[in-house]
Amino acid sequence: MSDVNKVLECLESRRGEWEDLLCDFLRIPSVSADPAHAEDVRAAAQWTAKLFDDMGFSVELAEPEQRPIVYAESPRVGGAPTVVVYGHYDVQPAEDPTLWETPPFEPDIRDGSFFARGACDNKGQILPHILAVRAWKEAVGRLPLNFKFVVEGEEEVGSLLLERFLDEQAERLACDCVVISDTGMPGLDQPAITYGLRGVAYFEVRLTGPNRDLHSGSFGGAVTNPCNALAKMLGGLIDDAGRVQIPGFYDDVVPLSDEERARFRAVPFDEKAFFRSLGVESAVGEKGYTVLERRWARPTYDVCGVWGGYQGAGAKTVLPGQGGAKISFRLVPHQDPVKIAKGLEIRLRQLCPPGIRLEIVDLHASPAVLTPLDSPCVQAAERALAAVFPRPPVAIREGGSIPIVARFQQRLGADVLLIGFALEDDNAHAPNEKYSVQTFHRAMAVSARLWDEMSRQPGAK
Ligand code: BES
Ligand code: ZN
Repeated sequence: MSDVNKVLECLESRRGEWEDLLCDFLRIPSVSADPAHAEDVRAAAQWTAKLFDDMGFSVELAEPEQRPIVYAESPRVGGAPTVVVYGHYDVQPAEDPTLWETPPFEPDIRDGSFFARGACDNKGQILPHILAVRAWKEAVGRLPLNFKFVVEGEEEVGSLLLERFLDEQAERLACDCVVISDTGMPGLDQPAITYGLRGVAYFEVRLTGPNRDLHSGSFGGAVTNPCNALAKMLGGLIDDAGRVQIPGFYDDVVPLSDEERARFRAVPFDEKAFFRSLGVESAVGEKGYTVLERRWARPTYDVCGVWGGYQGAGAKTVLPGQGGAKISFRLVPHQDPVKIAKGLEIRLRQLCPPGIRLEIVDLHASPAVLTPLDSPCVQAAERALAAVFPRPPVAIREGGSIPIVARFQQRLGADVLLIGFALEDDNAHAPNEKYSVQTFHRAMAVSARLWDEMSRQPGAK
């Protein structure tokens, strides 16, 4: 029996064990955005580190007092290629528990899926890579490649520590390819290789008006209301045609080529079903673009949260002293987040009425990325995916962001391979996040085959 078949057999025979492991991982509420979960974030790092330790990897926890980066290297295999495998153990806040059918950190398997925060984003996607390596070791006795795993704890809040780690440790991380499973695919049986991600620039906007909350009857009309101002300012960042109203915003945006538009049209996508599943009547957005073009390859502006004034039950007539919002821009290749931040400041100052103090806090930013589709690791992935799924992979772009990818490209000069397994309706970042059990096992088989395919390619870093 070939080595890879031994590995696949090993993976298959221990499905229950892998599912239990994922559930253990999902039980740790490693919410990076919430300081109340700082200990849980560290617990998830420890839990991940132990997996590598048990596999005989050398493991290091960088930034152990903060949101640790788990860095694990396999014993060296001379002459074999080297891959960096990246993922994140942090998760998004679960938010309102009443919106979850089962509690977010008590994983439940039903209807063929794991339900828990982090199920698809990203615990259920990084774990298969780790377990596929483990199965190689256990079933074959040696590893086909040199592995360097980087599993971080603040992807969901901008990867600032990892950026520094990469800058400092670029030499140690030298590799032939960076493999990342933190994206999606069009359908359960339709895998994908993602060749583009949008970037992001995220800001908090704070407005201060009068020095305290006021009676809206006595003062309204004579004093600028920061919430009125906020609504006008937020609205002034986009026009009716869906164009972002920031000076220079589109300057560096490269038009989509006919070839790429054709490639998008070839991706299976049922627009009607998409909007129906969202409970939304029809498409909106920038004129002249299809839904997939808008989501994957055009820059956007979204208000992610707004606050100010009375939020309690019933009515309260008040002219609030303060208001604010969190806003994000998704960026496409060549847009510079620093330029966007400057343009935003100019525009918001133009829109800000007298009587309001404006403060803009830059929370995080990362540029968009494109990855070549003709690299040897993409070819290896095509073969691995086609061997496991009923259909061969399609090439897609995605609208989400993985902040560290651009840095991997710049600092390591390595090819990046994005093969993700989440479905559109897996509810990433939303209540009732889920991940297909079948996909979890398929991801492991893909990973095992990918290592095999890559080991046949020459390389020695
Ligand atoms: N897994 C996502 C990235 C993603 C989302 C890829 C959708 C493809 C489709 C990742 O965990 C994520 O959510 N990233 C954040 C990054 C941000 C906080 C800097 C995002 O895109 O909002
Ligand atoms: Zn996410």
